[in-house]
Amino acid sequence: MDKDIREILIEENDLQEKVKELGAKITADYKDKDLLLVCVLKGAVIFVSDLMRQIDTTLDIDFMAISSYGTNTQSSGVVRILKDLNTSIEGRHVLIVEDIIDSGLTLSYLVENLKSRGPASVEICTILDKPDRRKIDLSIKYTGFKIPDEFVVGYGLDYAEKYRNLPCIAVLKEEVYSN
Ligand code: XMP
Ligand code: MG
Repeated sequence: MDKDIREILIEENDLQEKVKELGAKITADYKDKDLLLVCVLKGAVIFVSDLMRQIDTTLDIDFMAISSYGTNTQSSGVVRILKDLNTSIEGRHVLIVEDIIDSGLTLSYLVENLKSRGPASVEICTILDKPDRRKIDLSIKYTGFKIPDEFVVGYGLDYAEKYRNLPCIAVLKEEVYSN
């Protein structure tokens, strides 16, 4: 995979340090609350598995799969639930765990959808944020890193379903996209 990388934006160590920091904040904020992590598949899978081990309070985890992307790298704005939660969130403190917030369209849909199910609260934790691309106002409680407007892979993020297993966040060489 190394041969396909143009630039590493965030090193593995820096990701791990940030995840510890976020875990400590979440621990403090959710002590004595019924915390449910909602992991957005597939991109947030690596992040949530690191993050939950840095949260030192009782929690539960569930998964959702939603789709707002076609085959290219532009948000279509159309959100579909591919896999819903297994559990009820009524009265629970929901923390959505996401890989990246770009236009914000996917997450704003998800927040509204979850809020309609009667939870005690719904907040967002994302490892990456591309603020330059935001199309809708979104309140994000926990952000790992703000990054410039470039398509990134690694740490769960894919290009055409590949590169999710890179331990860092990277930008691919142009030629990878044209192949
Ligand atoms: P929106 O635009 O709705 O999209 O905020 C969020 C979703 O878009 C995907 N996304 C990316 N995936 N590298 C990726 O691998 C990127 O740079 C990137 N930007 C957005 C991602 O699935 C996220 O959940
Ligand atoms: Mg993706």
